[in-house]
Amino acid sequence: MKVDVLLGLQWGDEGKGKVVDVLTPRYDVVARFQGGPNAGHTLEFEGQKYVLRSIPSGIFQPGSVNIIGSGVVLDPVLFVQEARELEKSGVPIKEILRISRKAHLILPTHRLLDAANEKAKGAGKIGTTGKGIGPTYTDKISRNGLRVGDLEADFDTKYAAARSRHLGMLEAMGCPADAAALEALEKDWMEAAAYLRSFPLIDSEYEINQALADGKKVLCEGAQGTMLDVDYGSYPFVTSSNTVTAGACTGLGVAPRKIGDVYGIFKAYCTRVGSGPFPTELFDETGKRIRDLGHEYGAVTGRERRCGWIDLVALRYAIMINGVTKLIMMKSDVLDDFPTVKACTAYKVDGKLTDRLPFDIATANIEPVYEELPGWQTPMTAIRSEEEFPEQFRAYIDFLEKHLGVPIAIVSVGPDRTQTIERH
Ligand code: GDP
Ligand code: IMO
Ligand code: MG
Repeated sequence: MKVDVLLGLQWGDEGKGKVVDVLTPRYDVVARFQGGPNAGHTLEFEGQKYVLRSIPSGIFQPGSVNIIGSGVVLDPVLFVQEARELEKSGVPIKEILRISRKAHLILPTHRLLDAANEKAKGAGKIGTTGKGIGPTYTDKISRNGLRVGDLEADFDTKYAAARSRHLGMLEAMGCPADAAALEALEKDWMEAAAYLRSFPLIDSEYEINQALADGKKVLCEGAQGTMLDVDYGSYPFVTSSNTVTAGACTGLGVAPRKIGDVYGIFKAYCTRVGSGPFPTELFDETGKRIRDLGHEYGAVTGRERRCGWIDLVALRYAIMINGVTKLIMMKSDVLDDFPTVKACTAYKVDGKLTDRLPFDIATANIEPVYEELPGWQTPMTAIRSEEEFPEQFRAYIDFLEKHLGVPIAIVSVGPDRTQTIERH
């Protein structure tokens, strides 16, 4: 058996949570492979809305196994909040959720360091989610991190060493920690860590490979999006993990040849939260209209998402990096009323036409080249089969498939589970 991977092709918030929830009945195991509580994955069904941050979006499927993999960074305090909410909703979370011992822990001081780093960058700040993601992955790579498995033995000594190192760094950055405030954060953190320990802590690489050997079906859930990947995204305006398919291999201990289908998910337009380049961003009424109609406000931070037209140059790049085998188009219903829709098919960089992302995407002078297509001007949210697609919508799909070279297997026409159309 092979694992399938579902990940975002844009700058995050493509609708990964919704689709993982829809696909979960076909899988035995759902595993998050990277990122942390910077993610906000929204699920809607039976009139209820849930936002998941660190817990996989398969958690509502009775009988499923959900794994927080080794590539994830976990904040016990936020994890407890999330887990308790699920318990209140009747999800038997302790029975179906397992956590990798190798996942790294976000400490209270990591959050303080995240804020200090952003302050030091001034106008050049990344616009992070403030959850301590960058400093935690920095500690992991510099071999100073603490892992979930460390909670099982001699944690206090390891914690004291990390704490004093971090306090020194904060001091040097001119952002000394307030002793009383830190103590309060630590108290909450330690209580939360004790609760975290009551979950099955596992060697997830063995568990996942055994599941495959037993013929079980595994879905790997990505967080963020390809353009936020630390190696291939719009560096330095990225997150600190590998959000691409390769991240599923390292984040779960799955060999490259065990990757099966790669579901690449994108919105019919484009959004971004935080700073950084966004070639097709709209600063006009159309951008505002997309934001209003698409409710484009962050699931975690509530920040306004920047909005623009779909960028096929960036999408082709993301498809290449990830080896996407099936595309999933989300939120096309947001464009239902538009008389025409635009798609960026190429860039002009310093006046020269190109179909590639420039190395210096953060500073390059990029002018998007658009093709304009007729809008479908039909309410799509009640449509449940491909046969009901209006002609202009079919033409839009054909146009995208021609430019992207991969079939669009699923079209989503609303936030609810049921507003999902599989194409034949
Ligand atoms: P994720 O981070 O990729 O899981 O995406 P988010 O949950 O952050 O953002 C996607 C938002 O769009 C959520 O509020 C979803 O409820 C909503 N959504 C998902 N699919 C659709 C869709 O097809 N149409 C509309 N209108 N909303 C959708
Ligand atoms: P989901 O999984 C959208 C963005 C932040 C910031 C940059 C770095 O819901 O798609 P970080 O806190 O990771 O150091 O911030 O990445 N970012 C996201 N944007 N969706 C997300 O997750 C994001 N996670 C991080 O806004 O620009
Ligand atoms: Mg999100």
